[in-house]
Amino acid sequence: MKITIVGTGHVGLVSAGALASWGHEVMGMDDDAEKIAKLQAGDMPFFEPGLADLVREQVAAGRLRFTTDAVESTRHAEVLFVCVGTPSLPGGGPNLSYVEAVGRRVAALADHDLVVVEKSTVPAQTGERLREIIELEQSLHELGGRISVASSPEFLRQGSAVQDTLYPDRIVIGYEDDWAGERLREVFATVVTETGCPLVETDVATAELIKHASNGYLAMRISYVNNLALLCERVGADVETVTAGMGHDDRIGPQFLKAGIGYGGSCFPKDLDAFIYLNEELGRDATLLRSVRGTNMAMRAHVIEKLRQRLWNFEEKTITILGAAFKPGTDDTREAPGLHIAGQLRDEGATVRVYDPVVPELPEWAGDGLTLMSDLDEALSGAHAVLVATEWPEVAAITPELLRETMAYPIVVDGRNVFDSATMRAAGIRYESIGRP
Ligand code: UGA
Repeated sequence: MKITIVGTGHVGLVSAGALASWGHEVMGMDDDAEKIAKLQAGDMPFFEPGLADLVREQVAAGRLRFTTDAVESTRHAEVLFVCVGTPSLPGGGPNLSYVEAVGRRVAALADHDLVVVEKSTVPAQTGERLREIIELEQSLHELGGRISVASSPEFLRQGSAVQDTLYPDRIVIGYEDDWAGERLREVFATVVTETGCPLVETDVATAELIKHASNGYLAMRISYVNNLALLCERVGADVETVTAGMGHDDRIGPQFLKAGIGYGGSCFPKDLDAFIYLNEELGRDATLLRSVRGTNMAMRAHVIEKLRQRLWNFEEKTITILGAAFKPGTDDTREAPGLHIAGQLRDEGATVRVYDPVVPELPEWAGDGLTLMSDLDEALSGAHAVLVATEWPEVAAITPELLRETMAYPIVVDGRNVFDSATMRAAGIRYESIGRP
């Protein structure tokens, strides 16, 4: 199958590599000439384990190439995946103008039968809007050929994106026309046969909803557990044991029950905002989802209070935040809870250092006055307190002895529950974690 991927970000690039590895002829298209030049030279625009090998292998095999040429990439495609960004607008709704722009451009160029598949996360009913605008645009050009709008949401996680895509839990395809469904079944035939993963076939609106519903539910699990952790702190219970006990129930399962300073990243915060927006726009009650978001924010305030309890005032205190990435295994700092907390501590007068083993620079939104360090000993040296924000292996390997030797005050607030409380306390560390006695 001849496939074009528009947008070579996380979802687009990983999908391009995977689709090529399943035997398709894939073209990755992006308007960003610098990014395409990099990809053509074999360099990845971001860090993702296994991605460089996958992409280089498929390029070498002649199944994957990159271009900025909209005409060539549209004419190439039997199936075209839309993988462009859908950033949040100030009101919480997603900015779908990039998705629309791809639809209009394709409608103005395609003179053959083409399936346009939404892979970016979009709210339910986007497919309908896209179909309408494509029809309007097509009527201006009268090039012939049919365009069918479909949806196949992506469920990959950053840090394990390649594995998640090559070995998916499920593939979802939503379409309205039988011929589009046939092409999509062919696109995913290899992975479905080889991995035995379920193929969920449905209409476009349902496919769109599966994505938001999944991310909303996962975010809800995290906030549920974080609420539970706050209660555990009051009653003297251990949230890790409570969640282990819950997770043995097959209906609940053990995953995604880790208490901490809350979720971040480019997906959950944005998708939850968009899902709340969609519900309320359609007159539905979004109290539950709003509460999920509220708890996530409250966890940041909670650890700041823990630090305040130990440090008293923040002025003339040096606090080291361990982890700038929103989770381990990625250099992505978007909506990283640790950086939000770092900014708050800085605003309250603390001197703030941020340690991270892979993040090359802090994002602009974090503001001035935070010092990024990649040397752990240096980052700990003379600190009055540390906050664990990301459970990097380098962080989990820190010993109480190192903390005692390097820090000014031995105060540790463990926002990811990576250390053993008893060991830390026995070594004289003033140790706090989330939801553990
Ligand atoms: C998430 C979903 O897991 C993917 O299925 C989805 O495809 C993706 O969003 C997306 O929509 O593109 P991702 O944001 O890469 O993936 O990262 P996760 O591993 O899900 O972690 C998200 C955040 O939740 C992290 O900040 C992590 O620290 C936090 N988290 C996760 C917890 O606090 N507790 C947990 O038990 C699990």
